[in-house]
Amino acid sequence: MPQIILEHINKRFDKFVAVDDLNLVIEDRGFVTLLGPSGCGKTTTLRMIAGLETPTSGRILIDGKPVYDSEKGINLPPNKRDIGFLFQNYALWPHMTVYQNIAFGLEMLKWDKNRIKERVQEMLRLLKIEQFVKRYPAELSGGQQQRVAIARTLAPSPRVLFMDEPLSNLDAKLRGEMRTELKRLHTDTNSTFVYVTHDQLEAMTLSTRVCLMETGVLQQYAPPLEIYNRPANTFVAGFVGNPTMNFIPAKVLGRRQNGLKLSFLGHEALFETKNAGEVGEDAILGVRPEFLPISPDGVLEAAIYSTLPAGMETTVKASCGETMLTSVVFGSVDYEVDSKVRMDIVGSDIMLFDQATQKAAGSGRISFGEKVALEKKG
Ligand SMILES: Nc1ncnc2c1ncn2[C@@H]1O[C@H](COP(=O)(O)OP(=O)(O)OP(=O)(O)O)[C@@H](O)[C@H]1O
Ligand SMILES: [Mg+2]
Repeated sequence: MPQIILEHINKRFDKFVAVDDLNLVIEDRGFVTLLGPSGCGKTTTLRMIAGLETPTSGRILIDGKPVYDSEKGINLPPNKRDIGFLFQNYALWPHMTVYQNIAFGLEMLKWDKNRIKERVQEMLRLLKIEQFVKRYPAELSGGQQQRVAIARTLAPSPRVLFMDEPLSNLDAKLRGEMRTELKRLHTDTNSTFVYVTHDQLEAMTLSTRVCLMETGVLQQYAPPLEIYNRPANTFVAGFVGNPTMNFIPAKVLGRRQNGLKLSFLGHEALFETKNAGEVGEDAILGVRPEFLPISPDGVLEAAIYSTLPAGMETTVKASCGETMLTSVVFGSVDYEVDSKVRMDIVGSDIMLFDQATQKAAGSGRISFGEKVALEKKG
């Protein structure tokens, strides 16, 4: 089965480092997204795996077999990489009907006529484009064209499917629909999907694993919820999630048996954690907006800056001293600007980062109860 392994892959364009020492294992039947801001090296990485771009150094194995090895001088061309490599080619042939577009690749592979007919019908059904079979690409909407392109790519049953921002040209609604269909397709086809996107929501909702890169350097490679709840550093934490995580400056006052004593936003509290790693005196508390509810018993005092009701939930921005905090509240609420509210920090997925390295120093919960004990002591 086609497991894909990247070992110490580097790619330089002259002196510019596009991909820096990338190590990655893409599991068979996985749905892996390469995620990151523009220019971080996603497309370059995908092209190197496919054999369309030659790495500067490193090793790539597919199905246990080296397809690229800089030391041994191995570099197989795309069509020799043993598995049905097929790039998503969005441009359909304009002079061919939908049927001909999907059948073309199979004809090239010398499939027999009846088998092609059956397979095309199957693809048309799968992608719900049966009614367009006789049309030309110019007579289809963008989303319909996209589905034909996907049908064409899937038709020869490639074991690995590469997609580079396949939904980027679609409107928000169609993109949502196509996401659902892609995820379903992944289950139905048993193929391994390697998918490039800069859209964090797409990566979160589709993939079994997210590979998050920045300027050619891998930041974290983990399942979506781990990326969301246990980000490895502030870059990952800030890139994933909308609205973005609250980063609250904090001082580490000392270590306790069950965590760290912190001071932030004018309060002292215990950061209860079992996994406190390296952290200096200066730290950053990372709190997702959903863990910062507005509640009458909250310890933090804040003044409303703005309220953005979106129907299902409302994004509330409020200033707590110098720090602007973002809270997401379920349902529609509206607060008057400048009105005073109280906020709380809840749950056990609060992150602590070291200010100097920006790396995660642990996850845990905030307990303001400690404050009382400290004051009594002091
Ligand atoms: N042929 C090339 N020559 C020189 N530099 C290149 C070449 N191809 C890519 N680069 C550079 O390598 C970096 C990574 O490019 P890449 O296309 O992989 O980015 P990306 O993550 O896919 O970005 P986007 O989201 O904008 O598509 C960029 O800074 C780009 O300018
Ligand atoms: Mg790209």
